Amino acid sequence: MDAEFWQARWASNQIGFHEGAPNSYLTAHVAQLGLEPGAAVFLPLCGKTHDIDWLLSQGFAVRGIELNQGAVEEVFARLGLTPHLSMKGDLRCYEAGSLRLYAGDFFALTGAELGPVAAIYDRAALVALPPQMRQAYSAHLGQLTGTVPQLLVSLNYDQSRADGPPFAVSPEEIAQHYSPQYEITSLEKGAIGGPLGKRVEGVEEIWHLSPKG
Ligand SMILES: C[S@@+](CC[C@H](N)C(=O)[O-])C[C@H]1O[C@@H](n2cnc3c(N)ncnc32)[C@H](O)[C@@H]1O
Repeated sequence: MDAEFWQARWASNQIGFHEGAPNSYLTAHVAQLGLEPGAAVFLPLCGKTHDIDWLLSQGFAVRGIELNQGAVEEVFARLGLTPHLSMKGDLRCYEAGSLRLYAGDFFALTGAELGPVAAIYDRAALVALPPQMRQAYSAHLGQLTGTVPQLLVSLNYDQSRADGPPFAVSPEEIAQHYSPQYEITSLEKGAIGGPLGKRVEGVEEIWHLSPKG
């Protein structure tokens, strides 16, 4: 899944992954992150998700990165915010108040640029990537953030029944990526919904990744 693939999806409005409301797993389980008021939450591959608006409304700061510039600009417009724009290498950095979103490649973002974050929220980021990219993704996420608590929403289904994205990512694979540094706990699971749920049966699951002592 290269940049051209995703930009074409945005250009043709094939964005079935975009939910019209905050994700119900996030709203139910955000307390597991144990965040202080004002703490920064990092959303990799954030699209234009309403989870950004919801986290801000709960008093958190939000950092995110998304390839599609239009999606990033739409978030600020939706929130009625006029961002300050600056170039950070190849990334466009949009910032207003406690919201900072980068338009560009996740792999071009550095920890020095991102700065400290208190938690990660991954919905449809790991599962958006094909198998050969997921190890690089989880390794880069660790380099960017250190080992901070994470909520991860995953999908698992019979990959032979549908092509990704979104891809099936098994609990065993999640453990391969994250068990060296995290205790991994399943918080809730349910049937896959949305466009994918019409094509295959499978499980959507939210995981709490808690740094090992
Ligand atoms: C499946 S969508 C999920 C978006 C969002 N997390 C949500 O829940 O709506 C995956 C997003 O990742 C973006 N993306 C894919 N590869 C990326 C990369 N290397 N850097 C930044 N964004 C990327 C795509 O443009 C797309 O918007």
